Amino acid sequence: MEESWVNSAERIGADLHLELSGPGGRRAALIRALRDAVRGGRLAPGTRLPPYRSLAADLGVARNTVADAYAELVAEGWLTARQGSGTRVADRVEPLRHAVRGPVEAAPRAHGRLHDLRQGSPDVSAFPRAAWLASYRRALQQAPNEVFGPGDPAGRRELREALTAYLARARGVRTEPDRIVICSGFAHALRLLFGQGGGGVLRGPLAVEAYGLGFHRELLAAAGVRTVALPLDEDGARVDLLGRERGVLLTPAHQFPTGGPLHATRRAAVIDWARARGTVVLEDDYDGEFRYDRRPVGALQGLDPEHVIHLGSVSKSLSPALRLGWMVLPQRYVGAVLAAKGDREAWASVPDQLGLADFIASGAYDRHVRRMRQRYRGRRDRLVAALAEHAQPVAVTGVAAGLHAVLRLPPGTERTTVERAVRQGVGLDGLAAFRHPETDMEAGDGLVVGYATPSEHAYGAALDALCGVLP
Ligand SMILES: Cc1ncc(COP(=O)(O)O)c(C=O)c1O
Repeated sequence: MEESWVNSAERIGADLHLELSGPGGRRAALIRALRDAVRGGRLAPGTRLPPYRSLAADLGVARNTVADAYAELVAEGWLTARQGSGTRVADRVEPLRHAVRGPVEAAPRAHGRLHDLRQGSPDVSAFPRAAWLASYRRALQQAPNEVFGPGDPAGRRELREALTAYLARARGVRTEPDRIVICSGFAHALRLLFGQGGGGVLRGPLAVEAYGLGFHRELLAAAGVRTVALPLDEDGARVDLLGRERGVLLTPAHQFPTGGPLHATRRAAVIDWARARGTVVLEDDYDGEFRYDRRPVGALQGLDPEHVIHLGSVSKSLSPALRLGWMVLPQRYVGAVLAAKGDREAWASVPDQLGLADFIASGAYDRHVRRMRQRYRGRRDRLVAALAEHAQPVAVTGVAAGLHAVLRLPPGTERTTVERAVRQGVGLDGLAAFRHPETDMEAGDGLVVGYATPSEHAYGAALDALCGVLP
C-alpha cells in the first residue's frame, strides 16, 4: 500500500496545489512555492507537511529536492523539524490576512475549497512530466523546419497515423489518417461541427442525453442548436424515442454523468436510426480508456464508421490543459470540417501534436493510461469501502468505469447535502446540476463525485470529509 501521510493523526487535510515555476530549478521553485503557501495562509502554523517521498511523488521531483527544500526553510525559520513529529509550519509565522492576489496565490482548482471532488479533472499531480518531456524532445529534434510554420488544419499526419493505430487497438475504432481531424478538445469539436452563431457542418435539432454537461448544452445553444432531451434508464439513453432530430449526441461507453454503458441492443438501434434518417451519431468517448471491471466497451464508431462521428481528447487521460482532441469522421464530413477549420491550424499547437504523436507511438501513452487506471481503480475501491463503512444509506453507482461515481442519496436530501458540503469545504455537484432543463426525467437524488481530482496525498482526507457530509 502506498504511504499516505494524510492518514496521520494531524492531517494537513488539503491539497497543497504547489506550482513549481519560475527561475532557478525545481528546488528553488519548491522553496518559493512553500514559502508563498505559508505566507498566504494556505499552510497554517503547526500544519504537518507531507513526508519527502509523498510530496516528491506528487510533484514529480526527486526525494532529495524535497528534503533540501524543507531543510532550507527550516534554516530560514519558516518550518520546524523535530524527531518523531515530522516537519511542520513554524508557529510564529503569521499568515498574510489580506494577501494581494498574485499568480502564486491562485490555486487553480481549489476555489477556496479544501477538498476538491468535482468531476472534470484527472489527477493533475500525476501528469507524466518526464515521459512527456522525452517525447517532446524527440519530436522536436526530428521535426522538419516546416513544423514551425503555419499548420495543416487536418493536424499533423504523424499524430493522425498514431491515433489511427491506437484507436483501432484500444477502442475498436475503424478509420484511416485522412478521416481524422485534430482539434482542441471535445468542446472545440462541437464548435466546429455546429458553428458559432450558425453556419456549421451539422444542424439541429440534436438529441442529447437528459443528464449531461451543461457547458456542452450551452455551447450548442450559443450555436443556435436546439437540443432535445432523451431520457435514460438502466440500459442507457432511450434511443427508441428518437424521432426527427438531425443527430444524436451520446456518451456510449460511460454515460455522463450517471455512469452506465449503452446496452448492446440500444447501440444497434441508434445505428439503425442514423442509417434510416441519413444522419449521424456523435460519440463522446471522454473516458473510454478507464474501464475497471471488465473488458473495455468498444467504440460505437466500430459498428458503422459512416454514421458515427467519434470524438476523443486527452483531457481525462493526460491533461485538460493540453487542449488536444480528435474527430474521427465519416468520409462525407471531412471536407466540410476542414473548411470550418480554415486555411491553417488556428487552435492546436503543432509542436504539441508532434509531442503527442511520439507519446502515443512510443507506448508511453499506454503505460500512463495503465498506471492511472490502476490508481483510479484503487481510489474507487477506497471510496466504495469508505461509504460502506460510514454512510450506509448511500449507494454508489456508475463505478465500473471512468473518473467519477454517483452516490445515490435518500429522496429529498440532495440539495441540503450539497449545501452542507460547500459549507465544509468539500467541492462536489448534485445530479440536478446536470439535468437538461426541458426533460421530464428525474434521476433521483445523488452526488457526482470526481474521485480522480485530488492528488494522491490529499485523497484520504477528501474521502473522510465526504463521508462527514453525507446523510
Ligand atoms: C462529458 C465530457 N465530454 C467531454 C469532455 C472532454 O472535454 P474537452 O476535450 O473539451 O476538454 C469531458 C471532460 O473532460 C466531459 O466530462
